[in-house]
Amino acid sequence: MAIFLDTGTISEIEKYMKMGIIRGVTTNPTILIKDGITGGKEAIKQRSIEIARLIDPYPLSVEVTTNDYEKMIRQAREYAGWAKNINVKITIHGPEGELENLAAIHELQSHYKIPVNATAMMSAQQCLLAAMAGATYVSLFGGRVNNMGYSSCDEIRKLRKVLDYQKLPAKIIIGSTREVLNVIEWLEAGADIVTVTPDIIKGMIVHPYSKETVQMFLRDAAKNEF
Ligand code: E4P
Repeated sequence: MAIFLDTGTISEIEKYMKMGIIRGVTTNPTILIKDGITGGKEAIKQRSIEIARLIDPYPLSVEVTTNDYEKMIRQAREYAGWAKNINVKITIHGPEGELENLAAIHELQSHYKIPVNATAMMSAQQCLLAAMAGATYVSLFGGRVNNMGYSSCDEIRKLRKVLDYQKLPAKIIIGSTREVLNVIEWLEAGADIVTVTPDIIKGMIVHPYSKETVQMFLRDAAKNEF
């Protein structure tokens, strides 16, 4: 079981690496834009190399920015050459449901030996197929699943069962965290990894009653001049 950080912000990664509580980092183009990474491919490259170095030997996921088959393969090979702990995110299918992505996942894993994080998945059945294609990681977007009115925990439980039954080695990553509670409930449901935003991980640590208790200890210690 592990927690990854879903961010491209160096200071946040440094903070939680120092605490020893994260075991990897995931990014996507939307996260990188939100984190202010502009300047095209070169900027993505520089930030990815920086993160990969910072978290080495833990894995970093970097997502391809195209859905053209040949370009996906080329980009994935390029990303994988930036650092040995980089894996490549490929979406389960294209923007209009194009089916070639599973073949790209399979080719990258089996031919080029590049670890793939199959992403943007909303159901156990999508994840199962990505695992069968050979993906190292299968990413289910738990918060989005819940927002559609389905139970992310049910999907995780089903997925855990079939992967174990078929002896498929893919690691289950659950992303798209919306609430602090998601982390424990998804791990309990059978996820190998939950990837969390920095605000969620902070919410896991800080409790208002713990704050009040610590304040009491410090107040009383000061009164007694300890
Ligand atoms: C996971 O790998 C994704 O980067 C991420 O969790 C997606 O989350 P969102 O639904 O908040 O975009």
